[in-house]
Amino acid sequence: MKNWKVNSWRKYPVKHIPSYDDEKELNMVLNKLKSSPPLVFAGETRHLKDQLAEVVDGKAFLLQGGDCAESFAEFHPDNIRDTFKVILQMSLVLTYSASLPVVKLGRIAGQFSKPRSAPTEKQGGKELPSYLGDNINSIEFNEKARRPDPKRLFRAYSQSAATLNLLRAFSHGGFADLKKVHLWNLGYIKNSPQVKKFKELEDKIADALGFMAACGITPEFNRRLYTVNFWTSHEALHLPYEESMTRTDSTTGEYHNTSAHFVWIGDRTRQLDGGHVEFCRGIENPIGIKCGPTSKADEIAKICEAINPKNEKGKITLISRYGHDKVEKFLPKLIRGIKKEGLNVVWSCDPMHGNTLVSTTGFKTRPFNNVVKEVKNVFEVHQSEGSYAGGLHIEMTGQNVTECTGGAKNISDQDLSSRYHTHCDPRLNADQALELAFLISDEIKKNSNYARNAIKAAS
Ligand code: PEP
Ligand code: CO
Repeated sequence: MKNWKVNSWRKYPVKHIPSYDDEKELNMVLNKLKSSPPLVFAGETRHLKDQLAEVVDGKAFLLQGGDCAESFAEFHPDNIRDTFKVILQMSLVLTYSASLPVVKLGRIAGQFSKPRSAPTEKQGGKELPSYLGDNINSIEFNEKARRPDPKRLFRAYSQSAATLNLLRAFSHGGFADLKKVHLWNLGYIKNSPQVKKFKELEDKIADALGFMAACGITPEFNRRLYTVNFWTSHEALHLPYEESMTRTDSTTGEYHNTSAHFVWIGDRTRQLDGGHVEFCRGIENPIGIKCGPTSKADEIAKICEAINPKNEKGKITLISRYGHDKVEKFLPKLIRGIKKEGLNVVWSCDPMHGNTLVSTTGFKTRPFNNVVKEVKNVFEVHQSEGSYAGGLHIEMTGQNVTECTGGAKNISDQDLSSRYHTHCDPRLNADQALELAFLISDEIKKNSNYARNAIKAAS
């Protein structure tokens, strides 16, 4: 990698990185992080990249989901377990109906820092710096709480380590055993139509497993029936933290960001000449790039080339997030621009960030129908452009929240106040997330058959 160092991003302009009052204290924390254990290993990020290469070829589907912002307040084993359960349930729905393996990637174990639309927030005539995520400042509205505190970076690292430890235990300790799918249901949605549909799926899977066992294919024979690979991701926004967690792999001499398997560059920090792109071009991890209405196809292509000069499959995931009514206007141009340069990318859809609005009752929300519409529109556009819509990126939780309106329970603007817990953007609850999986599973099947034929015809 030419002229790249783990700290070369510091010579470039950067947005959305906080400034700290006490530089010395910040450096002390960063040094402590540098000598702390990595959260993930180089071999794991390589494995994920190989799985994402399968997505590029239309042979797998990427499901990325979790909190908008993790918080210290919501840190609880049950919350980790429930998010994990919903992602497993969604994956099963998609795997079964689309006959495709699903790459499972959590927005978890490190998703703390947030870019905000305004640097300050006003409440009752008082103006304070905005909340920037629990690893920077606190959501409480007072001067002391809103001051960036370096100690929070280490607390977030520790929370990420504990979260990842539990996720690893769940993934490999028997919880993900296909014979136990009935345990993945969450008690509080037991009467929902989604759960009834999921129960039907459980029966079909039990039949299939019975048949396979009779043929000698059991979890003892094939550990894949018993374990899952569950990967972690977050936005690589707080570059001092990301730099501290970046290490050289002793077997290859390559740099890996060990804070997560996958990191992405947000829609507000993807400037070609900015520090975030500079940092991400030097690390081996697979990288996501958010593409919103202000992104230009040639700019995104240049970012892909800077980060992935060898055009390696699985390295880049483009995550479109236009809003349900803007997909047709922007996505075809982006697809054509990327195709023209012959770039290998995973095409993922984030139907959340372009569909945020304020409810009549004053809450930041997302209507479920608009979320579904964006996914469907993205699938349609990819089909007509002959590309493969290979991924879904959502903000969701396993908790019984009321943050997005609509869905089978028809959450109204008035219902939002009842269980609105998010520290940043509104998330789909378990019921809505599972409903989305059922609603799009047929589309994925159609799209993957179509794309596989298109890829075959082109090769
Ligand atoms: C996010 O994914 O939380 C986010 C801030 O998204 P975007 O960069 O697409 O606005
Ligand atoms: Co968000």
